[in-house]
Amino acid sequence: MTNKNNPSLNLALCGSLLLSIILLLSKPSHQALDDNDIGFIIPNPRLLKAYIALQFWKLSITSDPNGFTSNWCGPNVCNYTGVYCAPAPDDPDCLTVAGIDLNQANIAGTLPEKLGLLQDLALFHINSNRFCGTIPDSFRNMQLLFELDVSNNQFSGCFPSVVLCLPSLKFLDIRFNQFEGEIPSAVFDLKLDALFLNNNKFTSSLPNNIGNSPVSVLVLANNNFDSCLPPSLTKMAGTLNEIILANAKLKGCLLKDIGLLNQVTVFDVSFNNLVGSLPESMGNMKSLEQLNVAHNNLSGAIPNSICCLPKLENFTYSYNFFCTEPLACLKLKVKDDRQNCIPNRPFQRSPMECKTFYSHPVDCGASCCLPRRPAPSTASAPTTLAAAPEHPEDWGAFSPGHLHHP
Ligand SMILES: *[C@@H]1O[C@H](CO)[C@@H](O)[C@H](O)[C@H]1NC(C)=O
Ligand SMILES: *[C@@H]1O[C@H](CO)[C@@H](O)[C@H](O)[C@H]1NC(C)=O
Ligand SMILES: *[C@@H]1O[C@H](CO)[C@@H](O)[C@H](O)[C@H]1NC(C)=O
Repeated sequence: MTNKNNPSLNLALCGSLLLSIILLLSKPSHQALDDNDIGFIIPNPRLLKAYIALQFWKLSITSDPNGFTSNWCGPNVCNYTGVYCAPAPDDPDCLTVAGIDLNQANIAGTLPEKLGLLQDLALFHINSNRFCGTIPDSFRNMQLLFELDVSNNQFSGCFPSVVLCLPSLKFLDIRFNQFEGEIPSAVFDLKLDALFLNNNKFTSSLPNNIGNSPVSVLVLANNNFDSCLPPSLTKMAGTLNEIILANAKLKGCLLKDIGLLNQVTVFDVSFNNLVGSLPESMGNMKSLEQLNVAHNNLSGAIPNSICCLPKLENFTYSYNFFCTEPLACLKLKVKDDRQNCIPNRPFQRSPMECKTFYSHPVDCGASCCLPRRPAPSTASAPTTLAAAPEHPEDWGAFSPGHLHHP
């Protein structure tokens, strides 16, 4: 039966099929595949379930300006745009829906519970649409789901906990939505390869078990964590490749042993409230190519070892309060040292601003998850800073003797 080029037949068939399905659903299951029913023309029960799921989905779509779902009619679900079939892993003779790819379709609608009927799904990609609501709990039926990408939609509410029940999940991308509240710590115990939670409205602390995550890519940027970097982060040393924590309201100091992350190529903690100095150990991050610590309250001297990292291509440390930078940093091809307190460099902060900043001691644990440092005996002694300048004379107008306000 070819119904692709005949819209009226399409519609009629679609309507009558849907009617059959509704009748069929209201029957006891042993009658479900009567010859007179739709089961007769859909080759196997798994595709029949897929048909039901996709028809319910189509009904919950309110706008599809590019007509992605306009051919979602008739029994041949494997021919629907964005629907991909493959032999079932447990039964090579049985064709089943293995993938949905509706990326960038600009569809508006919701995800109905009935999508849980797509039990053989391995890939579900609907990025860059206008879906709202949440991820239905019925997704827990998708025991084979490997990649879930619902990024760049209008999903909202709590973290979609159903993803915690998907044993095959490796790639989880829910970025650019309106999810809010806490990220359940169990997410970091999942055996994922990549985790994108950025550009949502998540709040509260980053959980302490974050380092259990075996991901190679972790992007949590543009959220509201109001959290320190959990010390367990360094447990990811064997697997972590890229970590992007920009603009996530992180506070406290960088971890002293952050240098253990020696496979990380991209490290971005820019636009946070981090304080203290760059740990000397960062000179052990031998794979580092892109390092961005800009727009924090970092201070002290930049360790020479960082700027000597063999693969470092771009080191951005502007908009902090660093007071010295080694020559090696100036030799980097791409660097940005603007708006610091570095003597004899262009575009630095005013001596007054620097002096005011350095008159307060660094407190890594300020209202934070880390144990507080013992209070320094005098608030102004620069030796209590995590990294005092190597050459106090470089401080010029804000040398130690001038740290007190006049
Ligand atoms: C799917 O569509 C193609 C061409 O559009 C057609 O040749 C093929 O028979 C269709 N498959 C099914 C199962 O209808
Ligand atoms: C960062 O420094 C500025 C200027 O001294 C100060 O106003 C601000 O409170 C500091 N923020 C943190 C988190 O230390
Ligand atoms: C270097 O990194 C910064 C921060 O990520 C970025 O804004 C800039 O474009 C990069 N420069 C080059 C030349 O790649």
